[in-house]
Amino acid sequence: MGSQRGDVKDLKLAAVGKKRVDWAEQHMPVLRKVQEIFARTQPLKGMKLSACLHVTAETANLMRTFKAGGAEVMLCASNPLSTQDDSAAALVKEGIPTFAIRGEDQKIYYRHLRQVLDQKPVVTLDDGADLVSLLHTDPTYAKQTERICASMEETTTGVIRLRSMEKNGVLKLPVVAVNDADTKYLFDNRYGTGQSTIDGILRATSILLAGATVVIAGYGWCGKGVAMRARGMGAQVIVTEINPIRALEAAMDGFRVMPMREAVREGDLFITLTGDTSVIRKEHFLQMKDGAILCNSGHFDVEIDVKALTALAKAVEKDIRSNVDGYLLPNGRRVYLLGEGRLVNLAAAEGHPASVMDMSFATQALAARWAAENGGKLAHCVHLVPKDIEEQVATLKLASMGIKCDRLTSEQKQYLASWEFGT
Ligand code: ADE
Repeated sequence: MGSQRGDVKDLKLAAVGKKRVDWAEQHMPVLRKVQEIFARTQPLKGMKLSACLHVTAETANLMRTFKAGGAEVMLCASNPLSTQDDSAAALVKEGIPTFAIRGEDQKIYYRHLRQVLDQKPVVTLDDGADLVSLLHTDPTYAKQTERICASMEETTTGVIRLRSMEKNGVLKLPVVAVNDADTKYLFDNRYGTGQSTIDGILRATSILLAGATVVIAGYGWCGKGVAMRARGMGAQVIVTEINPIRALEAAMDGFRVMPMREAVREGDLFITLTGDTSVIRKEHFLQMKDGAILCNSGHFDVEIDVKALTALAKAVEKDIRSNVDGYLLPNGRRVYLLGEGRLVNLAAAEGHPASVMDMSFATQALAARWAAENGGKLAHCVHLVPKDIEEQVATLKLASMGIKCDRLTSEQKQYLASWEFGT
């Protein structure tokens, strides 16, 4: 059950975890800067903040930042398979109650969500909207939404869920779509997912990408990133899409585009990043080549129909390698599933590198401060991160990289503000 101080796999992992968290910190210069400012100005003093995020070394640094800003922080996992047990232990040792055990079942996962809500937070943070969803669906929490001044959302899937709640008129608190900030999705979704997805696949399988046919389902920012990196490593990339504009974009970016029912016959490796359900399903498995590898890098484990695959299989061989299960199909072919169909970048690797999470989490921290400052004034809808926060994060990141950019002259400013000048 754990205690008020947390529920983690093994506190003895704390020393190793601290090294991992400190290593990540070195690659998060913008968040460090925000942490210094927070430590000085105490913008969250005495505020209770509950977070449901992937429990990684990078998230640990975000939690340290909130604590430095005066908040009372509690953390649980936003995915049962993404927790780094050593980072979780390090957080508990540092006095940040953390409820997360890698591989926890559904029951424990939800118990942990409840444990972070028990402190009655005024700000919540989600990666996938599970806390907000629980606050709205369980009558135990009916009164809690009134006290919450804002809920921050880290990922595309969560923002989609929250916009759906807003549209259906059921959203009972203000939400900030951190995912939709330019300083988040343009970097984290594209370069973070791009690199960490390939990283997870290679750690799990050790396959050669050069010359392989890689099918990427979904050409949003995450799909774009993975397609770009797979091509960079010499793969032949096929994109599948349901959105005609994105399909066109993929075609003009130089990728082959076709429906999944055709792509299944060609692919050696399949990666789903659509945010939707049953993207690869029964009729597809039966058409795949012997030895095809399947994985998902979308938020929920619904994109590959694992239930149908299990029902179809004549035999399932678990843990052929770490994070690899083999399925023998009735036609005698074998396909391999990575990370049980959960986020492969976090299940089989370490998630996005710290230097990209630096921007996402600096945006989170500054947006949380903004939401706290505006507590009680924000409407019950999905808000965007204010532009000046994005500019501050980008400016600090550029400075940390030793890159300078140009400034408008007064003549240029005047020109851009005018309309009289024409041909
Ligand atoms: N999402 C993707 N990568 C992550 C990481 N390293 N930490 C927290 N959340 C993540």
